[in-house]
Amino acid sequence: MRINFLIVVFLCFFSTIATISVAKFVSLSGKNVKLINTIETKNCFISYITINGKRYLVKQKKLSNKQVAVVRDALAAYLAKGLKIAHNVDIISSKKKFPGKMNEFWPATIHTIAPGDTVRKQRDCIYSALRLRQMWAMAKNFDETGLTREIIAQMSWHRQLPIIIGIDLMFGNSDRHCGNLCYDSTTDRFCAIDMDDTFNKDLCIIAYKKLQVMFNDPNTRFSLQEVNAFIQLKNTINYMLTHFKSSDVIKKLYAFAHKAGFRPGNELYTPSITKKLLLYESMIIQTWISAPKLMNILDKIIQKNVRGVWYAHSEA
Ligand SMILES: Nc1ncnc2c1ncn2[C@@H]1O[C@H](COP(=O)(O)OP(=O)(O)OP(=O)(O)O)[C@@H](O)[C@H]1O
Ligand SMILES: [Mg+2]
Repeated sequence: MRINFLIVVFLCFFSTIATISVAKFVSLSGKNVKLINTIETKNCFISYITINGKRYLVKQKKLSNKQVAVVRDALAAYLAKGLKIAHNVDIISSKKKFPGKMNEFWPATIHTIAPGDTVRKQRDCIYSALRLRQMWAMAKNFDETGLTREIIAQMSWHRQLPIIIGIDLMFGNSDRHCGNLCYDSTTDRFCAIDMDDTFNKDLCIIAYKKLQVMFNDPNTRFSLQEVNAFIQLKNTINYMLTHFKSSDVIKKLYAFAHKAGFRPGNELYTPSITKKLLLYESMIIQTWISAPKLMNILDKIIQKNVRGVWYAHSEA
């Protein structure tokens, strides 16, 4: 009896350690945190650390005018958490010293490490051909903008890709290139990383307009796999809308901003930051208005093409 009790206590203790959140680790800084190495990429410093033996990475943007990216990265990962499709991210305050935080006075983010490797680095993998970037400012014309026909076709390559496209639509992420997508061939799972080019545009309204054109074009047909991908995409958008009101997302936006150090009285809180946060706020509101319209057109396309697929089968 006594032994059983001790086993339960032992198991509870270790499962608590295993599930301790990234946030908790940040507050535990100094205890069992070891810096392994730091690499420099074009835009940031990436430091690999261990906390109680488990690996994490610390990311800090190099330029002072890019520091607000921590808020967008953390907010996107927070919203995506329940979908189990992205890494976990938390903010390390500008006030906090932390191993791997190169500039002591700027904020940084701490991330769980995505299994596998970026798709870009896996040249022999079929997924290295993915082109999932929903172009915005860099698109030459309407055809190239947002959710293209090519992205729709590629979205059907794997059951998790519609979820990734769905979060990118909801977060206004136009940076889903192969370096921002990890794939683990042993588990056949993707992990979305780097969501710091987000909340500054409404990709849902663009996708809605594009799908409307496709719906009205008699020459546009979708395969059964693509219709299935549309169903998953619609479910993902529905998940976001039912789990988070735009007002909740905005509250979390400011909570992360405060945690990073963008708050009155701190020199990081410049008029430009205030303006950027207001832009994200308005884009969140706009996206949450556009998303139901997008779901509506997705529904129409699904209905129309499910009928089309059924007729094609019955005629054969
Ligand atoms: N959670 C993660 N798990 C595994 N690797 C990661 C993770 N986050 C970042 N990386 C690695 O670090 C690289 C740079 O990170 P990230 O893409 O977030 O930064 P960035 O803002 O795009 O910087 P840059 O433009 O300089 O690459 C990624 O391409 C990836 O190799
Ligand atoms: Mg990147």
